[in-house]
Amino acid sequence: VRDRVAMGQVSQMKLDQLCNDTLVTVVNGQLPGPTIEVTEGDSVLVHVVNKSPNGVTIHWHGVKQQLNCWADGPAMITQCPIQPNKNFTYRFNVTGQEGTLWWHAHVSCLRATVHGALIIRPRSGPGSYPFPKPDKEIPLVLGEWWDTDLLELERRIKNGEMKEVPTSSTINGKLGAFNNCSGVIADDYVLNVEHGKTYLLRIVNAALHAEFYLKIAGHIFTVVAADANYVKPYTTDLIAISPGETVDVLVVANAPPGKYYMVAMTVPSQWIVEEPLLNTLVISRGIIQYNNTSKGSENTPVLSPELPVDDMGNISFYFHGNLTSLLMPSVPASIDERIFIDVDQGYICKEGESPCRTAVTRMNNISFQLPTSVPLLQAHYYNNISSSISMVREFPSSPPNIEFNRGNTMKATSMRRVRYNTTLEIVFQGPPGETSYLNPMHLHGHDFFILAQGIGEYDPNKDVHTYNLVDPPVRNVALVPRFGWIAIRFVARNPGVWFLHCHLEKHVPSGMATVFVVEDGPTLDTTLPPPPTDYPTCDGQSNKVSY
Ligand code: C2O
Repeated sequence: VRDRVAMGQVSQMKLDQLCNDTLVTVVNGQLPGPTIEVTEGDSVLVHVVNKSPNGVTIHWHGVKQQLNCWADGPAMITQCPIQPNKNFTYRFNVTGQEGTLWWHAHVSCLRATVHGALIIRPRSGPGSYPFPKPDKEIPLVLGEWWDTDLLELERRIKNGEMKEVPTSSTINGKLGAFNNCSGVIADDYVLNVEHGKTYLLRIVNAALHAEFYLKIAGHIFTVVAADANYVKPYTTDLIAISPGETVDVLVVANAPPGKYYMVAMTVPSQWIVEEPLLNTLVISRGIIQYNNTSKGSENTPVLSPELPVDDMGNISFYFHGNLTSLLMPSVPASIDERIFIDVDQGYICKEGESPCRTAVTRMNNISFQLPTSVPLLQAHYYNNISSSISMVREFPSSPPNIEFNRGNTMKATSMRRVRYNTTLEIVFQGPPGETSYLNPMHLHGHDFFILAQGIGEYDPNKDVHTYNLVDPPVRNVALVPRFGWIAIRFVARNPGVWFLHCHLEKHVPSGMATVFVVEDGPTLDTTLPPPPTDYPTCDGQSNKVSY
């Protein structure tokens, strides 16, 4: 075991983009933040120093955090935000995990700029990848540029304003979209390649809202991993990647030397709930440039990929459905419990409002509310959640019946208690209708098997027979198809409080979330240890916890 130590200084800086000076929160003065590179089995220490005026937390997206829920990071779920001028050291290990994950702020909407890649390489070196050894590895972080202040964005979402859209999309922090300041498309991201070489692109979708569809003119991808789990090599010319997901692909630079556009497309309807502009694409571009492109290459025309004509939701459905696990996983053949979770939108009343028209999102009619005084994990560990936090509700069990789940909305801090070692199946059901979009559901602290997905309403008698129990992909994000369902299975063997939420950022403050409270197991090594000594407090008075 090696100790890998990293430093993260969170601060604000002014960035002049698209004619505006915007104050953004960043880590180590970079956008995206630093890539953390570690080896499987390492123990990782990240000292986070908060020099910004707002509280922050960092989540290690996809890290399993076995017996280590304290380091998971979601604000008011596992910890209080690190207050301005305070620090916290995240300690975790990356045992049994390999591939591309990422880290991001998990408070308000700050993750739009506070994020970076987390790369875990095999212990015995890159020679032991289960695919041809790449000549070079390139992290490719897809994101969004927002003019709106991100704390203000959260307030608007909580107010029921769901139409907020980013100003542009980005590739590794560089604008690649139509720039209404300069009036041209900025192709700011350039990747130089050498003919004949193989590149491993480690793609992260760090956007708040956009599902991206990635193409490179004249090149094809071989997908080798998703969410840091190897998949059977899958060849395609189009990658579909939703917020929260990671995909590792091999690209061989075997086209005639020249310049090629890499295009990340997105559908604005995923940003806008009520006025979808179907069939319109927002495009973000970068350039793949061959090193030995002959002189005068400034004038070489850049080749564009053919844009897909099929509906993006269908493309995404097939892309995700085509992934299978490379290693033969042992899928639990039977389950202890099946939980049906209906994800959709509802309405609540603002004070004095009638009829109720404030839009919220929800799971089984409950719009999740974060606690405000004590993080759930702390309450769970020292007392019990229901006695220390108001508005707590047991997450409702419900039959797989859409009508049942389309009732009135209740606001509450919902939670589901789970006994140690329970095998759970969750079926997520998305709402009907042409304009509904894809909801990427992320569970903290666990990977799960994706058994099947389907369009329409889940039918328990019929759809269980379509489950892949042989080589289902193992992921940490389950993308609920547009008016469709997806079934996942996992064993709850990691004591703690684990957030389950949609990774579209506007769905978090608005309530499409719940938590799993996994109880301790019977032995000491299945029991959650006490918090670290520098565990943040919510008042920022002291970094030491005293009870
Ligand atoms: Cu990537 Cu709860 O987050």
